[in-house]
Amino acid sequence: KQVALGVDIGGTNTKFGIVNHRGEILEKGRMRTDSFEHPEDFIEALYEAVSPHLAKHSSQKQFDGIGVGAPNANYYRGTIEQAPNLRWKGVIPFAELITKKFGVPCKMTNDANAAAYGEMMFGAARGMKDFIMMTLGTGVGSGIISGGKLIYGHDGFAGELGHTIVKPGGRKHWSTGSEGSLEAYASATGIAITAKKMRAEFPDSMLNDYPEEAINSKVVHECAKKGDPTAIEVFRYTGQKLGEALANFVMFSSPEAILLFGGVIKAGDFILKPTKLHMERNLLPIFRNKVRLVFSELDEADAAILGASALVWEK
Ligand code: BGC
Ligand code: NA
Repeated sequence: KQVALGVDIGGTNTKFGIVNHRGEILEKGRMRTDSFEHPEDFIEALYEAVSPHLAKHSSQKQFDGIGVGAPNANYYRGTIEQAPNLRWKGVIPFAELITKKFGVPCKMTNDANAAAYGEMMFGAARGMKDFIMMTLGTGVGSGIISGGKLIYGHDGFAGELGHTIVKPGGRKHWSTGSEGSLEAYASATGIAITAKKMRAEFPDSMLNDYPEEAINSKVVHECAKKGDPTAIEVFRYTGQKLGEALANFVMFSSPEAILLFGGVIKAGDFILKPTKLHMERNLLPIFRNKVRLVFSELDEADAAILGASALVWEK
């Protein structure tokens, strides 16, 4: 009869769900993340949004707690710290603020870790002990499961693979200032930057039919489907950078599979084929043709909601 609330905070949107022990999402909702300048206001709005749903499924007694997945979340401290794609700067004692407002315990983890955990408990990674989850959205996130457990490391932030460098001295990250990170190329934000650069070089490209602010990975996908070579090249190049990065990650942790998930993946084979090609090409032979690239089985948000809520009942 017990329920928990799972919350998935993304750079743009936040999704939440009331979840039971069996991993069934009983109620779902969403709200903007980026319209709140302060975390306190966000939590206030979350409370308003969640309360009617919660009232349907639990008395306070049956409500066990809240699990949150968020960018740059710290599992040990329950904080969100200096997230590059959130407006909230500094170190935010997020779990504490949640508990103060909702009156129940709160556990936090990185958003991509939550998605990995959800897939392991209820989705495509059921039964897997070693795999990597990559989330390709506003940012690039990852969750590394090794020996059946999420890797947290010494300080609790392990698995920030989106910020590993895929092109030394390359594109400067808009927020962190690093040069050549995977996120600067393979996130939705990065793809838009690549598309704008490439369409400037190829005046004939269909991508030039759109105003600057309309250029995003969805538009690039539409042009690619119509056969625009520049749009196709945008995904090929992105896939190359992603594949090279994945090869590194495979050699680091020897996963059984890599799960890909997020808006960018909607481009399908345009991105998947070059990703696979460049991953395999750069692997040490002992790793070749062994690691599956899998699309996430659960609905994007559901994996993270389920993973976050499962934290509440974790031993
Ligand atoms: C953050 C990660 C997060 C990812 C996806 C990155 O910029 O550093 O913590 O998992 O974006 O939201
Ligand atoms: Na992570």
